[in-house]
Amino acid sequence: MQHVPSTDLQYLSGFANEFASEALPGALPVGQNSPQRVPHGLYAEQLSGTAFTMPRHEQRRTWLYRIRPSALHPRFERLAQQPLAAGAGAVNPNRLRWSPQPLPGVPTDFIDGWLPMAATAAGDAASGVSIYLYAANRSMQRAFFDADGELLVVPQQGRLRIVTELGVLLVEPQEIAVLPRGMKFRVELPDGQARGYLAENHGSPLRIPDLGPIGSNGLANPRDFLTPVAHFEDRTTPTALVQKFLGQYWGCELGHSPLDVVAWHGNNVPYKYDLRRFNTLGTVSYDHPDPSIFTVLTSPGSVPGQANIDFVIFPPRWMVAENTFRPPWFHRNLMNEFMGLITGAYDAKAEGFLPGGASLHPCMSAHGPDAESCSKAIEAQLAPHKLDGTMAFMFETSQVLRPSTQALESAQLQADYDQCWASLATTFTPPRS
Ligand SMILES: [Fe+2]
Repeated sequence: MQHVPSTDLQYLSGFANEFASEALPGALPVGQNSPQRVPHGLYAEQLSGTAFTMPRHEQRRTWLYRIRPSALHPRFERLAQQPLAAGAGAVNPNRLRWSPQPLPGVPTDFIDGWLPMAATAAGDAASGVSIYLYAANRSMQRAFFDADGELLVVPQQGRLRIVTELGVLLVEPQEIAVLPRGMKFRVELPDGQARGYLAENHGSPLRIPDLGPIGSNGLANPRDFLTPVAHFEDRTTPTALVQKFLGQYWGCELGHSPLDVVAWHGNNVPYKYDLRRFNTLGTVSYDHPDPSIFTVLTSPGSVPGQANIDFVIFPPRWMVAENTFRPPWFHRNLMNEFMGLITGAYDAKAEGFLPGGASLHPCMSAHGPDAESCSKAIEAQLAPHKLDGTMAFMFETSQVLRPSTQALESAQLQADYDQCWASLATTFTPPRS
């Protein structure tokens, strides 16, 4: 294996494959995982993301060769500054929408700035998801890991430099990052401030969906997922390590950086993906397919075909359907839909849904284009048309997403959201006999 610069990326070319990286030549043991003496005096440690006995194609685990084993830490103590509770607020079946949250006015690092929006379950459930907005204006000085779930990070404003145990990911808006459950990392802010969306996945790890009759290409192509190369910090600077465990922050002080992995191999890895590389498919005749055609990543649920969470995007695309109502149609769904907007405008809403904002349409709530978008779509002269300069997304879950108390009491909650449908005209004109 050749030495590779620590800021480079390597292709994550398949989720069942093994990936390997070493920041020092010869650091990665050859032919076995845990030799009696690891090269360069390193320690071997396995990080499992799935149970040992999962079917092989479901297994996620990585072997880490590090300066000090993770076990070298004192007792964790509950921190005085706790995250806002992600638990469910009052039951509310309504369609909800929020204006963008302001950036913080006081020094706030990435893990200080999580605003719980909705959750399907407590963090100790074996499935489900919790959804947050994040906003930060200070790089983390400490390291963090989330014992409650895998993190899907969707930046909306400002880049994130995510220094993980396995290497560095630089992620900008219109890219996403996925951090395995338990992976230690630090988030730095190259632009000084940042905000975006987080899905904390308590269930099966995210993976690209099967393609069925689509074939072997399309949607998010495997070669566009990037995982970092090994990068280690060999320093004895005192460093706080914080973990999120059952929704609480617990911390300890280390005498060293915990990001000290010199070499690794496995498939339980952080990765990034550029949403602009999504190979968008759609109709070339009439109507349009269900939005599942836009699925980037999925966490399968216990019912076949019914995801624990789907991550779906609405990217730039050509609209060419003939004799068709082209915006998303009116619908009532089994699944629960939390939407965000990264940039531009969303084609089903004329106003009110802004970049950095969010909406929640729970199970069986009736929704669709607002009155203005609807009348425009009915009157439109249909010709090939490009929706451009836009990137919306949806966290779609099979379990009901209950909004948090903070989300329900937020000043950004729009009291008049229902009004966007109130002026839908009755145009029924029965034939006169
Ligand atoms: Fe919907």
